[in-house]
Amino acid sequence: MQLKRKDILGLQDMTAEEIGLILDTAESYKEILSRPVKKVPILRGKSICTLFYENSTRTRCSFELAAKIMSADTTSVSVSGSSIQKGESFKDTLLTLEAMGMDLFVIRHSASGAPHFAARVVKSGVVNAGDGMHEHPTQGLLDMLTIRENKGRIEGLKVLIVGDIMHSRVARSNLWGLSKMGAEVRICGPATLLPVGVDKLPVKTYTDLDEAIDGVDVVNVLRIQLERMDRGFFPSIREYSKFYGVSKTRLKRAKPDVLVMHPGPMNRGIEITPEVADGEFAVITDQVTNGVAVRMALLYLLLGGGGSVVSA
Ligand code: CP
Repeated sequence: MQLKRKDILGLQDMTAEEIGLILDTAESYKEILSRPVKKVPILRGKSICTLFYENSTRTRCSFELAAKIMSADTTSVSVSGSSIQKGESFKDTLLTLEAMGMDLFVIRHSASGAPHFAARVVKSGVVNAGDGMHEHPTQGLLDMLTIRENKGRIEGLKVLIVGDIMHSRVARSNLWGLSKMGAEVRICGPATLLPVGVDKLPVKTYTDLDEAIDGVDVVNVLRIQLERMDRGFFPSIREYSKFYGVSKTRLKRAKPDVLVMHPGPMNRGIEITPEVADGEFAVITDQVTNGVAVRMALLYLLLGGGGSVVSA
C-alpha cells in the first residue's frame, strides 16, 4: 500500500489504514537507527526544506536527521536570518524555495492552517510540523508508535491525555489518531483549559485527575504552555501542579504497567515530577527515538516511491 497523498497535514483526515502503514514502515526503519553506519541511499537526489516560524528542538532536528540518514539534501530556514525578517510573505517564501527545487517542505507555524495554505501554494509535498493550536501529526504518530511498541497494540487501551488540552496541537493529533486506531481516549485538565466543542470530540472528558487516571494504560502529560498563559487560565502554577501534576502517588491509580509519556519540552516540577519523568514507567526518550523513525517513514512514503522500504 502507498500513501495516496502529497501532504501530511493532520491525523483528523487520515484513515486507520494510512496510520497503520506509517507505523509499520517506521517500525522497519528503526533497525537502521541501530546500525553503526546510519546511512541508506533511498532519498538520494531529493531536497527537503524545514521552514520553521516557531522554535523547535525535537521536531526540526529529527526531520533533518531522518532526511540525512536517507541521503536527502536538507535546507533549514527560520525566521531569524531569512528574508522573512525583511517582510517577505509566507507565500513568496514558499514559491522562492520551491523555485530552487525543494521536493518537500516541513513547516511549523504559529498560525493554525498555515501548512494547509502552503499545500495549496506549492506543488511540492508539505508536512505539518505543528500549526498553532491545530495539529502536530508527526508527534501523534510517534506517540502511537511508542504505545504500540510497548503494549503490542493500540486497540482497546485506555489513554489519558492530561494538561492544557485547549492550546495543545499534540492533544488534537493524539486524540484523532488514537481514536481511529481503537483506543479509549480520556482528556483531563482545568475546565478553563478544555477546548470549546469538547463534547464533539471522540474522547471522555474529566476535570478531576484522580478520577481520570483510574485504570489507564497510558498517561500522556502535556506541557503547560507558559508562553500562552497571560489570561489567567488557573490561579497559580503551584495550584496547577497540586491538582494536575502527575506524581508517583497519583500514578498508583493507573494500571501497574502504565506508560508515562511527554512530548517535551518538559516543565519538571509543574506538570510532571522529576521522579516520574525519570522513573521506571517513563518512555520519554523512546518517544524521541521513535520520532526519527516516524519521520524517516513519512519521507519515504511521500518521496521514495515504491522501492524496498529498507535497503542497505
Ligand atoms: N514535541 C515537540 O514538538 O518538541 P519541539 O518543539 O522541540 O519540536
